[in-house]
Amino acid sequence: MRLSTAELDWKDNHTPVSKQFGDVYFSAEDGLAESRYVFLQQNNLPADWSASDLFCIGETGFGTGLSFLASWDLWRKTRRPGGRLHYVSVEAFPLTREDLGKALAPWRELKDLSDILIDLYPEPHPGFHRVHMSDDVTLTLLVGDAAEMLGELEAQIDAWFLDGFSPACNPDMWSDEVFAEVARLSRPDARLATFTVAGAVRRGLAHVGFDVEKADGFGRKREMCIGRYTGGPAETQLPAWYRQPAAHTGERKAAIIGGGLAGASCAHALAQRAWDVTLIERQDGVAQEGSGNPSGIVTPRLSADETADSLFYAEAYRYALQEFKALAGSGVGYNGCGVLRLPRDAQEQRRFDTMMRRSTLPQSSLRLVTSAEASEIAGIKINSEALYLPLSGELRPASLCHALVQGASTAFGVEIDKIERRHDQWALLDAQGAAFHQSPICILANGIGATQLNASAWLPLQAFRGQISFVPSSAQSRSLKTIISQASYILPADDGVHAIGATYDKMSTRQISSRQSVKRSDHEKNIQAIDAMLPGLLTQIDLDRVLGRAALRCSTPDHHPVIGPVTDEGFFRETYADLRHGPQFGLPPANYHPGLFAHVALGSRGLSTALLGAELMASQLCGEPWPVARSVALPLHPSRFLVRQIQRSR
Ligand SMILES: Cc1cc2nc3c(=O)[nH]c(=O)nc-3n(C[C@H](O)[C@H](O)[C@H](O)COP(=O)(O)OP(=O)(O)OC[C@H]3O[C@@H](n4cnc5c(N)ncnc54)[C@H](O)[C@@H]3O)c2cc1C
Ligand SMILES: C[S@@+](CC[C@H](N)C(=O)[O-])C[C@H]1O[C@@H](n2cnc3c(N)ncnc32)[C@H](O)[C@@H]1O
Repeated sequence: MRLSTAELDWKDNHTPVSKQFGDVYFSAEDGLAESRYVFLQQNNLPADWSASDLFCIGETGFGTGLSFLASWDLWRKTRRPGGRLHYVSVEAFPLTREDLGKALAPWRELKDLSDILIDLYPEPHPGFHRVHMSDDVTLTLLVGDAAEMLGELEAQIDAWFLDGFSPACNPDMWSDEVFAEVARLSRPDARLATFTVAGAVRRGLAHVGFDVEKADGFGRKREMCIGRYTGGPAETQLPAWYRQPAAHTGERKAAIIGGGLAGASCAHALAQRAWDVTLIERQDGVAQEGSGNPSGIVTPRLSADETADSLFYAEAYRYALQEFKALAGSGVGYNGCGVLRLPRDAQEQRRFDTMMRRSTLPQSSLRLVTSAEASEIAGIKINSEALYLPLSGELRPASLCHALVQGASTAFGVEIDKIERRHDQWALLDAQGAAFHQSPICILANGIGATQLNASAWLPLQAFRGQISFVPSSAQSRSLKTIISQASYILPADDGVHAIGATYDKMSTRQISSRQSVKRSDHEKNIQAIDAMLPGLLTQIDLDRVLGRAALRCSTPDHHPVIGPVTDEGFFRETYADLRHGPQFGLPPANYHPGLFAHVALGSRGLSTALLGAELMASQLCGEPWPVARSVALPLHPSRFLVRQIQRSR
């Protein structure tokens, strides 16, 4: 993906002017006062958000982030206790962090906020970037062209800031396509404000359903425009069978089954939204099964294609790194020692170049290095070129799980045998049939265990056994400084011991047991794999003294996680049976088990995907803007398997 960053001139050395568009980002007289008047006051803020628990602003043109900071500043002074502000902004030519700092420097009164923005500002890279700026303010920055990115957004916007340079300089930002998306994303009665009164803009907005009128302009500008969305309910872009259940507006109380990375991430995402969360785990603590390894590596999935799923892994990886940083004070010790990915064979080595060019990762995250550079980075001899992921590293999954469940109640040693919907609540029954817990919302984060519960038994989950081995370092391997991976991986030695792994064996459903014993033959496989990757690095290993750990991973036939509302399988098969004849129109929207969501099947990458997956699930549940594009979220939807099965039955 190609992206141009903003090229700037500086008027009077402090007001940014776009070289690409020949226009100013904001008034040279007083940009902050202008933003406050045009976008906040004229959108009836703060009055409009004073009654809402959730308020969403949509902006075309993030630019320097000044309007965002003005909104955040007003929000913190006037917000309703417990309320949340979502700010979604699209930007095709992001400023560099340095330019952002320079542009925001004059606004001393916003310095505490601009410092946070500059610190958390995502590296300019196409795609969706979700950043939690504070407990109650979340920015979703869509980097890319407005029409295209808004077309991928699922959100309900309450107030629009239309701010894309003057229509004369930049017609793309004021196109019919952009207006159509603005209308689609608007809540009934949503407001808009814009500095321009251009006739084409007023007509375009009126055409898609806004009542538009002129208002007094700021400073020397005579007029501006304000509007209200009075058009009908927006036409959704989601096919009927993927249509979401209505956002949950009742009691904010949820039960989560499963205390691994998925469950802990869901607990965190909901606790951040001030939910009353109870996490129920059959083991005696968090991170005891799939998530129980003493360490795991954090890497994105590398691919030579820019597909929706490679985008999910790239965005999840970025989000995970950002959240690890935010959680550093809670005992999450992320060791960003870097990963060198070696080619599996000559064919893959040839593809490294393409993987680099087509990568969905920002430049700072991935580079192709020569064998000499790789050796320098690794501290041991590397005989081939490698892909270097300098931000990747290792983490103890349990430390992350412990930090993530801080805001939730936990119940350990309780196995949920059955879930039943009773009087608008999910009753979670134990093996004796007693209702252990009741909540309006239930989240399945119990990996392969989801197949044991009636409502989700139809999910085609598969179990893959994995074993890691702890082997003594050799004189040579002791100097390893970074993780080396291929099909297997080796971590730098910790106290004279390397973690190596991991095996990957499909289990039949008969073999599924929550406790997996360690196998000597699997140690052998792990050692052989490292020997094939780095011949002679490990020496004289006494297999009888090697320790290890084995557990099950949960995956799906398409290898992607399952994230979203759990459909009523019977209704689905009956209602959408005609999909086998090809695309259908006029079908009723999907029917879900009320309040039942899943976050399972994290496969081999739970450390990088669990957090963004939980954020997506929580956003869907609460009716908030999705943190990823629609085309990235739908391939994770639980119903995808049913759609495919029906389509295949032609
Ligand atoms: C050997 C090995 C190496 C790995 N290496 C890496 C790595 O380097 N990097 C990486 O990102 N990922 C790695 N993974 C994958 C990663 O560990 C998983 O993606 C992740 O742990 C999945 O988390 P989870 O919460 O979905 O599952 P789990 O951690 O298995 O959590 C599910 C929980 O649900 C509980 N549960 C199930 N049913 C019930 C019930 N009915 N009632 C109550 N509780 C229930 C279970 O006890 C369990 O604790 C590895 C996995 C293995 C096995
Ligand atoms: C007037 S500036 C926005 C100022 C901004 N609101 C602020 O607070 O600094 C307009 C922004 O729109 C962006 N832009 C221009 N054309 C675009 C397009 N087609 N899609 C998305 N963003 C675009 C520009 O790069 C610029 O940052």
